[in-house]
Amino acid sequence: MPSRRRFLSAASLAAAGLALAPLAACSRDAAAPAAAAPAPAAPPAAANAGNLMTRAIPSTGETVPVIGAGTSGSYEIALDSPDFARLQETIKVFFDGGATLFDTSPNYTNADEVLGALLADGGWRDRCFLATKIAADDRAAMEAQWAQSQRRLQTDHVELLQIHNLRALDIAWPYAQQLKEAGATKYIGLTHYLESGHAALVAAMRAHRPDFVQVNYSVNAPQAAQTVLPVAQELGIAVLINRAFDDGKLFARVSDTVLPDWAAEVGVTSWSQMFLKFAISHPSVTAVIPATGRPDRQADQLRAGTGPLLSEAQQAELVAQFA
Ligand SMILES: NC(=O)c1ccc[n+]([C@@H]2O[C@H](COP(=O)([O-])OP(=O)(O)OC[C@H]3O[C@@H](n4cnc5c(N)ncnc54)[C@H](OP(=O)(O)O)[C@@H]3O)[C@@H](O)[C@H]2O)c1
Repeated sequence: MPSRRRFLSAASLAAAGLALAPLAACSRDAAAPAAAAPAPAAPPAAANAGNLMTRAIPSTGETVPVIGAGTSGSYEIALDSPDFARLQETIKVFFDGGATLFDTSPNYTNADEVLGALLADGGWRDRCFLATKIAADDRAAMEAQWAQSQRRLQTDHVELLQIHNLRALDIAWPYAQQLKEAGATKYIGLTHYLESGHAALVAAMRAHRPDFVQVNYSVNAPQAAQTVLPVAQELGIAVLINRAFDDGKLFARVSDTVLPDWAAEVGVTSWSQMFLKFAISHPSVTAVIPATGRPDRQADQLRAGTGPLLSEAQQAELVAQFA
């Protein structure tokens, strides 16, 4: 994670044909003028930060905490609403707990605008390992989308730019590489969220050798352990896990179910922690990116990033239970 803001050279971007759109203010008022005031300094890290496990990104050795966050659904809320105030509390819990990695996408309605406003309001941007996506069908649309992402996220760079569900990969990959060479992103990734996409994802990993791959993996959808995860390990590709709660559906399945007898041995006190610990217990996994818009759930999720991991037998028991 970078500890400082990296500024892009306008000349290098122009040379790459990637001139930035002006960084308009992306506050809660879409009509607000461009921000003149500098972003507030990041608040000091909380005393409990540092307990979260971290993992190294194979292509550089840089480390990230194993618990990150997604924005789909949970961050698609109205600005200037009680939901926004609740997200301000949620994101404070996230960063105070030592987490850094946020995943978003221009496809999640206004989630990137909400995340950009939250990061600016709290002064968290420089502490954030920010991941977003390209999700468009042609080069012109991709360029317009990236310009929009910068405005909405209120930043001129991200840490990770992913090609969403391999969409228009032949066009998106060279564009992402150009952005990486220009310093607009540090890493490039590929994503999918369905088992039916795993074969194509593996083929693209072999063909392009991205820094990151993002894939679905959960106690009731563990197929990635047979497909994407071993290939990531073989090729030295960092892995983000999406849908660790099966988009929240897993909670309905455990509403009347007690935790396994051995939960306390691995420091797990909730099903949320159990589902996340399952994901990070696979040795290929770099971080899991669960979504929540609630501070209490955010605090609970962070607890999954501490204490012992699950043994292979414990992982297998969960898979059998939720098959
Ligand atoms: N193709 C792709 O690239 C792709 C596809 C899917 C997802 N993703 C990324 O991965 C992230 C995670 O995936 P996801 O959001 O689809 O699903 P998820 O993380 O499996 O589940 C999120 C849902 O779980 C609910 N939840 C969280 N904690 C809970 C608890 N303790 N009890 C009950 N409900 C709880 C959340 O609601 P609350 O907000 O109310 O807590 C939210 O609706 C996304 O946000 C996105 O960033 C990427």
